[in-house]
Amino acid sequence: MVAGGDPGVAGSATAQEHWSSRFAFVMAAVGSAVGLGNLWRFPAEAGQNGGGAFVIFYIACVALIGLPLLLSETLIGRHGKSSAVESVRVVARESGGSTAWSALAVVGAIASFLIVSFYSVIAGWVLYYIGVFAGDLFASIGNGNLTGGAFAGQSAEQVQGLMPALFDNNAVMLPLHALFMGLTIYVVARGVTGGIEKVAVYLMPAFFILFLGITVYGAFSGDFAEALAFMFAFDPARLLHGPVMLSALGQAFFSLSLGSAIMITYGAYADRGVNLAKTSGMIAACDTSVAIIAGLCIFPIVFAAGLAVDSGPTLMFQTLPASFQTMPAGSLIGLLFFVMVFFAALTSSVSLLDAPTNWIRYKFGWTRARTAVLVGGLAFVIGIFSALSFNVMGEWYPLDFIAMFREQNFFGVVDGFTGKIMLPLSGLLTAIFIGWVADRRLTDAENGISGGLHLFWRFLVAWLCPIALTVILILGIFPELIG
Ligand code: TRP
Repeated sequence: MVAGGDPGVAGSATAQEHWSSRFAFVMAAVGSAVGLGNLWRFPAEAGQNGGGAFVIFYIACVALIGLPLLLSETLIGRHGKSSAVESVRVVARESGGSTAWSALAVVGAIASFLIVSFYSVIAGWVLYYIGVFAGDLFASIGNGNLTGGAFAGQSAEQVQGLMPALFDNNAVMLPLHALFMGLTIYVVARGVTGGIEKVAVYLMPAFFILFLGITVYGAFSGDFAEALAFMFAFDPARLLHGPVMLSALGQAFFSLSLGSAIMITYGAYADRGVNLAKTSGMIAACDTSVAIIAGLCIFPIVFAAGLAVDSGPTLMFQTLPASFQTMPAGSLIGLLFFVMVFFAALTSSVSLLDAPTNWIRYKFGWTRARTAVLVGGLAFVIGIFSALSFNVMGEWYPLDFIAMFREQNFFGVVDGFTGKIMLPLSGLLTAIFIGWVADRRLTDAENGISGGLHLFWRFLVAWLCPIALTVILILGIFPELIG
């Protein structure tokens, strides 16, 4: 065992790596959790699902399903001390269970691989807006208009037109996808201490500073009251509404990076001394606060510009840029905003690439760098089809004959298949494995909780998680059941 150092780059291909501190572990895990899911997807989903009802159900999902599973995944990794797949095998063997349970991590690692392929495309859009706002900032410095809104002299339609123009332009979209994937590969290839935790330890604190700064600025110059009312308005009629509940649970899963072998992988880099229950609580709390504050960061700006908050996926890339047009110092704030999103996206994509990379390198005994290049390169190629789904391949529906993929293009299919089937399936198997198969003495020794809290955790993992995840899976596969 090599502690510290970076065995993944040179040395033995599969020596187990370690975080250099607990802080590094928490930052990397928070970095994985906090990403486009919090900043782009959560406000969009909340906006479309009626605000308050969605938010309340989301918090319940995180506390009762996300958190117990997060603890289960990190403890598997920390006990197994290997790739996610190997770690499950170790726990299964020691518990007298079948090593076939390692399938849960195979499903998760493949899901991570597929997710990173399109995650990088979307992160490429973020790079594009960094360029757009940087250019606009220079222009506004040039004409002494630094305190004015962004895009002086352009109409709102012109600004809103940036996004469709980008989507039509593969000559911009594909190189940016390549650039972002290249960065991700570089970080993962550098190893745990040399790459993954370095970006986390520097970029996450920078992220938090920018995030709080922009939110406070937006609170004063935007329409904060309306945003608050919207996010927390409680409409009981929508609370027990099937589709709202389903998307809240799906979003909780995606946001905490669960069911994807990532938290098992990251747990395996953690030392024995780390209290996993405490760190899991911190990770979930940070992730949830960022999601909610992201709403309070974005909605006041959008409300102040008088635009619609329920525009869904285009909220961040179309509505928000247009809103910066009406905001004082809009080009500077816009630039800082997209730099901040980029930091969050990179720490997430690194985790998404690390899980499959680590699995493959243990399996074949390759070096980390070589594996990262191969796995990331393949993800890049698959991602090209997701990028083309926004233009020339937009109306190609590869699985049109299956109800859940009807009228879904390539991107829609990969997104839907990973989010609605693979992640919940891997999570379901994890819950059953920890709740029913794993040796209790083993899990008790790892989890860092005792007494009533411990019993409650066992109940959630053994009963509530499997039931909730089965429902999610069934409704995801047969959407017609809830209309
Ligand atoms: N959780 C990240 C986000 O919110 C994205 C992410 C990273 C992810 N790893 C994942 C999503 C694994 C699903 C599974 O943006």
